[in-house]
Amino acid sequence: MKKEFTVTPWEVSGNVDYERLIKEFGVTLIDANMRYKLVKTHPLLRRGLYFSHRDFDLWLERAEKGKKISVITGRGPSDKMHIGHLVPFLVAKSLQEQFDCEVFIPISDDEKFYVKEEVTFEKVLAYAQDNILDIIALGFKRGKTYIFEDFVYTNIYTYAAQIAKRITYSTSKAVFGLKPEDNVGWSFYPAMQAAHILFPQFLRGKHLSVVPVAIDQDPFIRVTRDISTHKDFQFEKPAALHSKFMPSLDGGAKMSASDTTSKVIYLSDNLEEVKKKINKYAFSGGKDTIEDHRKHGGNPDIDVSFQYLRYLFEPDDQKLGKIESDYRSGKLLTSELKSILIEKIFLFLKEHQKRKEQAKRNVEKFILK
Ligand code: TYM
Repeated sequence: MKKEFTVTPWEVSGNVDYERLIKEFGVTLIDANMRYKLVKTHPLLRRGLYFSHRDFDLWLERAEKGKKISVITGRGPSDKMHIGHLVPFLVAKSLQEQFDCEVFIPISDDEKFYVKEEVTFEKVLAYAQDNILDIIALGFKRGKTYIFEDFVYTNIYTYAAQIAKRITYSTSKAVFGLKPEDNVGWSFYPAMQAAHILFPQFLRGKHLSVVPVAIDQDPFIRVTRDISTHKDFQFEKPAALHSKFMPSLDGGAKMSASDTTSKVIYLSDNLEEVKKKINKYAFSGGKDTIEDHRKHGGNPDIDVSFQYLRYLFEPDDQKLGKIESDYRSGKLLTSELKSILIEKIFLFLKEHQKRKEQAKRNVEKFILK
């Protein structure tokens, strides 16, 4: 049977069937029991955009007992960052706030340089600088957060080489779906990302880390877990937390940097851009006419504006519940729902952009040398 969707670190397309991915990737569903423990964390976790994990129950148990734990999540700087990229970083920050743990943030400029033909060496270095400021602006703790960029923190190569020796070419090819015409950088890069994921253990000794990412990054985690217990390393298998994808404005499977700008809200967008994009392009679960909408109501489950509020921009459960029921009943129109979202995104971005400016003064305090 032909697959109707594709999920790899390099490509996401089609209508993603997450239940099928759970089976294919051999990951564990985040159940009610675990969600109960996450009621105080970010809406992304407690409202279910994060849907599966590997050993996160163990990580939580260690965290609750005050044992050594850490968080790793990274960024491949191929472009400006968009609101979909907030998904792993806000969760990393939320775990840091709750458990006061160290967070490691690798910037894989080499990855995007290898896999994106249009991304030149100069461009990738410039995007890395810009993206690092966006990440710092999210409010990670100074002195407990370490950002490192592959082309700059070249020490990471010494770890990647030790790992590369333990990953066969056929593993890389099978896990990442490499094609004969792909350059050899692609086949080496998984060793680099494995080095990122094991870096806290290389640096601080054996302990349990967790990697929050969208599910497309799981192949890297699988390979890393496999080699982590090799006799040369004897590390803990890193845990993982997987999210679904934040949809693009038109309701596409994944908001992606390679989409046209009309499908993406960038962290650098201004009010006019946000207004125009949401009003014109955000896929609506409302009815075609106001009359119909008042009579039959809208469907928040497929409405992109509602999804953005639910996962990123309306943390208050009561307010979100009222928006949802008013939309379902037809009391709230699509245009009104969009206005609520525009206001929320505007406030978020205004504050974010201010903090990004301030981050320019602090950046050195977060960079690993
Ligand atoms: P990158 O730069 O493509 O994306 C950064 C992170 O954002 C997630 N993401 C999304 N999540 C939800 N909805 C979306 N629409 C969406 N778009 C992107 C990605 O899954 C990713 O977690 N190889 C990685 C960067 C990396 C990394 C690491 C991640 C380098 N080293 C170590 C984790 C651990 C990448 O290219 O991500």
